[in-house]
Amino acid sequence: MDLKKLFGYENKNVVITGSASGMSRSATELLGELGANVYAIDINPIEANVTKRIQADLGRKEEIDRVIEELPERIDALFLCHAIAGYKGKELEVQLVNFFGQKYMVEALLPRLSKHASINFISSVGGFGYEQNYKTCLEVIKIDNWDKAVEWYKSHPDIISNSYVFAKQCMNTYVTNKCMATEFISKYIRINAICPGYTITGLSDDFNKSSSPTLNAEEGKEMIEGMFIKGWNGYAAEAKDMGYPLVVMGSDICSYMSGECIYIDHGLTSSWKNQGLINNK
Ligand SMILES: NC(=O)c1ccc[n+]([C@@H]2O[C@H](COP(=O)([O-])OP(=O)(O)OC[C@H]3O[C@@H](n4cnc5c(N)ncnc54)[C@H](O)[C@@H]3O)[C@@H](O)[C@H]2O)c1
Repeated sequence: MDLKKLFGYENKNVVITGSASGMSRSATELLGELGANVYAIDINPIEANVTKRIQADLGRKEEIDRVIEELPERIDALFLCHAIAGYKGKELEVQLVNFFGQKYMVEALLPRLSKHASINFISSVGGFGYEQNYKTCLEVIKIDNWDKAVEWYKSHPDIISNSYVFAKQCMNTYVTNKCMATEFISKYIRINAICPGYTITGLSDDFNKSSSPTLNAEEGKEMIEGMFIKGWNGYAAEAKDMGYPLVVMGSDICSYMSGECIYIDHGLTSSWKNQGLINNK
């Protein structure tokens, strides 16, 4: 069997964000190996060997609009992978970078997405339990205008105070809500997310600092490891543990899969879910 044909990326136009580092970098490199024409975007310089590198801040509408002009007329797969950590004081920026800018980009590029194209997000175990906040997340998803989104976020400071988590909950809501929406299903566009567990990447130091009330990386690391690692005597994932499954998810291998938020966390959220079932009895 020809494995490149099985993936179906050969000579396809693929757009991917966050390619300078971590999970997205490993996905970007694999997409190139599989024969895709890769258009890679990041706020930082990209080293991977791709068709086109674009440097832009995807938390700013004007920059996203500029990027969109530089992308090809036909797009076969779109990977939204960039994000920042949830520092106090950066609540609005986190929403715009980690979710609303990504939704804005998807919807602006929708007319260019080919039939059977795939849209692939990187969400997080941080978005686990999004169902409990579904109706609030739906309010954000229904906003079709950048300024109105900013207004909504500014008028809901309590909701966005849990900034990283709320952005990922909105992402999970978007995936599960939009998979059957006319604008996607009419072209059989698939829309999915991976939800990674604790992974060592370029974000790790920021995650550690932002998790500590005193911005102390060591203290934050201990808290994060307590939450995600200690309970199962576990270990952190590497970037490729997420980047490679992401590439599989966006490929022809998963041609009938849509509306899924797939947790890649060595079983952690499954155990949380089961614990919840016992506790709710
Ligand atoms: N590392 C983890 O433990 C973990 C766990 C769950 C989910 N995630 C998610 O994985 C995804 C990838 O992150 P990573 O862990 O590989 O981190 P990373 O920092 O290695 O990669 C993120 C990339 O996004 C880019 N980026 C950040 N802000 C940007 C902006 N405004 N415009 C354009 N590019 C921007 C960064 O420059 C970087 O190259 C993110 O969505 C993150 O939320 C990470």
